[in-house]
Amino acid sequence: MNTGTPQKLLIIDFGSQVTQLIARRLREANIYCEIHPFNAAREEFIDAFEPQAIILSGGPASVTQPDFPCPPESIYELGIPILGICYGQQVMMRQLGGDVSQGRHGEFGRATLRPEGAGLIGRHNLMEGLFADGHEEVWMSHGDSVTQPAAGFRVIARSQNAPFAALADNERHLFGLQFHPEVYHTPCGTRILRNFAHIAGFTGDWTMSAFCRRIIQKLRDDIGGAKVICGLSGGVDSAVTAALIHRALPGQLTCVFVDHGLLRDNEAESVTTMFRESFNIPLSPIDASTQFLAALRGISDPETKRKTIGRLFIDVFREEAQKIGGATHLAQGTLYPDVIESPSAGDGPSATIKSHHNVGGLPAELGLELVEPLRELFKDEVRELGRELGLPDEFVRRHPFPGPGLAIRCPGEVTPAKLAILRQADTIFLDQIDKHRLYDDIWQAFAVLLPVNSVGVMGDGRTYGAACVLRAVTSVDGMTADFYDFEGTFLSETATRIVNEVRGINRVLYDITSKPPGTIEWE
Ligand code: XMP
Repeated sequence: MNTGTPQKLLIIDFGSQVTQLIARRLREANIYCEIHPFNAAREEFIDAFEPQAIILSGGPASVTQPDFPCPPESIYELGIPILGICYGQQVMMRQLGGDVSQGRHGEFGRATLRPEGAGLIGRHNLMEGLFADGHEEVWMSHGDSVTQPAAGFRVIARSQNAPFAALADNERHLFGLQFHPEVYHTPCGTRILRNFAHIAGFTGDWTMSAFCRRIIQKLRDDIGGAKVICGLSGGVDSAVTAALIHRALPGQLTCVFVDHGLLRDNEAESVTTMFRESFNIPLSPIDASTQFLAALRGISDPETKRKTIGRLFIDVFREEAQKIGGATHLAQGTLYPDVIESPSAGDGPSATIKSHHNVGGLPAELGLELVEPLRELFKDEVRELGRELGLPDEFVRRHPFPGPGLAIRCPGEVTPAKLAILRQADTIFLDQIDKHRLYDDIWQAFAVLLPVNSVGVMGDGRTYGAACVLRAVTSVDGMTADFYDFEGTFLSETATRIVNEVRGINRVLYDITSKPPGTIEWE
């Protein structure tokens, strides 16, 4: 029943680190949704939004404390399905007359969910299709727990430590889950969210092309006739950002490609050529490598490196903006994983974990208004959007490459000599991956040059050279990752090539750390 206005689901955000995953799961099911922080989602807003269903997210607050964040109580009178997740469940119970207590111990990690028969009867079955083996694995992360459900609610599933793991009021279509259905560690979670959407009458009529149309309209509304500059990195994020803005506001975009001297072999040339050939967008390539490398001299602290690079990037952009005559907006390909752990993403209520990536590197006083149209998306969604916009496959398939470039793959001080060695090793590793046709099975692959020398023996002589680490991971969204399990022969062949072909490296290691506890990059 697509009448032009999509069926809309509203996610009210109470600051969980994984709220965006709810939206992602729903988008995967072709359901249109928007996330709005609880302090913005007041009664008038909700009336105007006209949601067909509401999800209350998790969050760090406690309903046992005074002035706990909550949605307007009137939502429970709207007659639409509402699902509370973790804190969302607790706030729903508290508002409707149930009890929530601060547990002596929280519950974090895996739990086994078992059904409670009576609640599973009827057409409003949130647990439809689950429990084929009598149980499901779910992921819990909570300190408080519901101790008494509100009137009208029945238990539909429990776990060992959560007797009220899933609650339903089938009459009013209100549901509460103690666990997080949106995370990968709850394999049945997607099914639960789809069941909820099904109960709410969503037909799954929403697509990436509809998302694309909405973003384009939003860009037009937000930017109007102003001029925009966009920093290209050669990666898919900035390419999609540029293509979107160009589509939305033809003639208003200038792309700037900064060669900060921290790129891989031939990257500057190939990016510039690809862009000129594939898009009809003005592009100013800027060689700022001397400036960046001078600024990085003597710096070995990873955060200082990131901040230095971020600051210089902005300086170069600012200068360029002035040159092109009055650009007032700066577009960046920031994705949701870049934002998620940064201070108060989008003014939302999330707790600050660390300042991260592009977001953390930007000074407060930018002087240009930031445009980040991909802020809600994960990498695989950006790739889909790229295809939607007709980007060449070579762009869309590209592995991510971080803004600070090789600087964060060169622990310790960054020098031109180290970068030259690192580039050669990196090129060989990627060449090997291409030859073995593994590129598309891997999320990201690169070399890291360690600031460590070790003794070796080559041609009957002693060597004392640098150690290089190869890192290749699989991932869906960059939030979690596992090392890529290469065949031993691939690794030994690659190590042999690197040691033979790169003067300065005499030892090669393979990084088998997953994320968490490691991160994908070394710094
Ligand atoms: P980590 O190292 O945090 O990286 O596991 C997750 C993903 O983000 C990329 N990354 C960055 N991308 N600017 C970027 O544009 C950055 O500062 C940055 N730092 C990391 C990283 O390559 C991986 O894909």
